[in-house]
Amino acid sequence: MRIFLDTANIEHIRHAAGLGVISGVTTNPTLVAREGAGDLKAAILEICSMVHGPISVEALSPDADGIKQEARELASWHKNVVVKIPISEAGLEAISVLSRENIKTNLTLCFSANQALLGALAGATYVSPFVGRLDDIGHHGMGVVADTVGIYNYYKLPTQVIAASLRHPLHTIEAAKAGAHIATIPYSMLMQMIRHPLTDIGIARFAEDWKKVAKQ
Ligand code: E4P
Repeated sequence: MRIFLDTANIEHIRHAAGLGVISGVTTNPTLVAREGAGDLKAAILEICSMVHGPISVEALSPDADGIKQEARELASWHKNVVVKIPISEAGLEAISVLSRENIKTNLTLCFSANQALLGALAGATYVSPFVGRLDDIGHHGMGVVADTVGIYNYYKLPTQVIAASLRHPLHTIEAAKAGAHIATIPYSMLMQMIRHPLTDIGIARFAEDWKKVAKQ
């Protein structure tokens, strides 16, 4: 399973990219707004220069023609830009046209395996089931990831599953066990995944013991 970073924060992306463990980035309007007003194109191009993999940017038009127009513009920015499109009738129509133009798409705000199946049939490159937001309302978010992976595998559909809206490190393990192709995770979660208290204790003890050897 690959890991994408779910943020629009340039410094967090720079740091994570340097660790060599992320292979893409996902943004959404909320994440972009969190970083303040600025030049979106310049920010996306900077991200593309740091992470050489898929970079998702959301299209916001409500109708199919608007989505297609927006998607063509976003995709013209850089070869790695993937256009995020919320599931709707307009979204599916746009995805089916864009896939024939070889524009990569990420079906977003996906909350059911039915929505994920439709996204794959329309030709989405990626589908993003939102795990945490389903958990928040008492549904089993990771179940949607597992069902979607099972359906795609059974019918050999090429769409890749991005487990999204992940909230804690256990979600990453569960996404990997469910067979998700990608987990997109917040920066803070990546930091949590690196750390373990026994690692800290072990490093401190080895350092102490090495001092004793050095004194002999
Ligand atoms: C990723 O593609 C989504 O935009 C993101 O994971 C949503 O996460 P949230 O539910 O924590 O906002």
